[in-house]
Amino acid sequence: MDKLLIINIKELLQAGEEIVLKRGVEMDDVNCIENAYVYAVDGRIADYGEMKNLPAELNMLVKAWNSADPHEKETCSQADAIEVIDAQGRIVMPSFCDSHTHLIYAGSREREFVDKIKGLSYQQIAANGGGILNSALLLENMSEDDLYSSALGRAYEIIASGTGAVEIKSGYGLSLDTELKMLRVAKRLQQNLPIPVKTTFLGAHAVPARYAGNKEGYVDEIINTMIPVVASHELADYIDVFCEDGFFSVEDTDRILNAGMKHGMRAKVHANQMGVSGGVQVGVKYDAISVDHLESVGEEEIMALKNSGTIATMLPGATFFLNMDYSPARKFVENDIPLALATNYNPGSCPSGSMQFQMALACIAMKLTPQQAFNACTINGACAMGLEDEVGSITVGKRANFIITKKIPSLDFIPYAFTTPFIEKIILDGKQIEIQ
Ligand code: NIG
Repeated sequence: MDKLLIINIKELLQAGEEIVLKRGVEMDDVNCIENAYVYAVDGRIADYGEMKNLPAELNMLVKAWNSADPHEKETCSQADAIEVIDAQGRIVMPSFCDSHTHLIYAGSREREFVDKIKGLSYQQIAANGGGILNSALLLENMSEDDLYSSALGRAYEIIASGTGAVEIKSGYGLSLDTELKMLRVAKRLQQNLPIPVKTTFLGAHAVPARYAGNKEGYVDEIINTMIPVVASHELADYIDVFCEDGFFSVEDTDRILNAGMKHGMRAKVHANQMGVSGGVQVGVKYDAISVDHLESVGEEEIMALKNSGTIATMLPGATFFLNMDYSPARKFVENDIPLALATNYNPGSCPSGSMQFQMALACIAMKLTPQQAFNACTINGACAMGLEDEVGSITVGKRANFIITKKIPSLDFIPYAFTTPFIEKIILDGKQIEIQ
């Protein structure tokens, strides 16, 4: 049995047995145990609590470990193979849960970044064949193995920045073969990464050039050809649509979500990023697990989400990168709508997979407190991927996916010192991961 015991933790954050999706005033609470330990067996959390309540048998293991010679500690060869980490007053928290990424892509798009600086809008770049269509062209010409290697590099980059669960979308294929290529790569990542991965079919990310002037034809292809094949190969957990002027209408979104759900995929929607699109309402209609972006929302969207089972996911990294107005996050909190934060890691609107940066933007630009942002990046992010039984809190039975911080004063320091590395060690499934 593999055992890991972390002792002398200054603050064990988000620890408890009743931690579920948070909304309203619950978002202010981060359950914190001071001067704590956490114990993991075979990759799962087995126990945690205050140091003064450390069970006698664990205390004995600590004593044996302390007296073992350094070689035994290194090889973990002593009886019971326990590894003890003395946190020496550091904070331990659950890893981040990033519920919205497009991290499989074939090339960066810094030329469009410069075009934007020179005055072109995201929509103008897309209308000129740049944007998502540019990514689709690059991806068509890259081998599946090369695509996998480049995505694997990005996945380890986010793991090193503290992410312990991730959702990954297709949507840079836009044909049956290339969408399947992306989803097979996502499945390979799911099999090989040390973190849980959820996959999403986003064929409706843009209308490909071969269907220019015939969007209906592409929607029909998604519904009649792509969705059945994706489902029969069990390649996606979720079905997603970019519901936006110039991309897919509410009617298109309705048809595609309906078809995806009939094939066992739960809905997610890219909603209200550039304008009031109706994406929120159609997502709520289909009980989407989340509607994502939400920069352009008014009373109607808030009312639609209130009392629905749909999580509002905000992607402030994209709002920052596209230099837009931020989503009114506090309005959502005031209206008891559960909020998640995610990176949206992609080459066009957020070439960053840093959850620390999302936390910082949520606090600085959207005026969430660090506690609200932290809940949105952990347990609520886990819920937005259907992974709340696995990750998102320090709870018995969940995966032992933790961050041991450097010696920082408090949780508030993480978004405050937003470019300062705050991670000392990453633990995944109860094992330390080497970080570069
Ligand atoms: O969520 N909005 C649609 N999709 C991505 C951007 C994709 C791209 O530009 O490549 C987003 O922002």
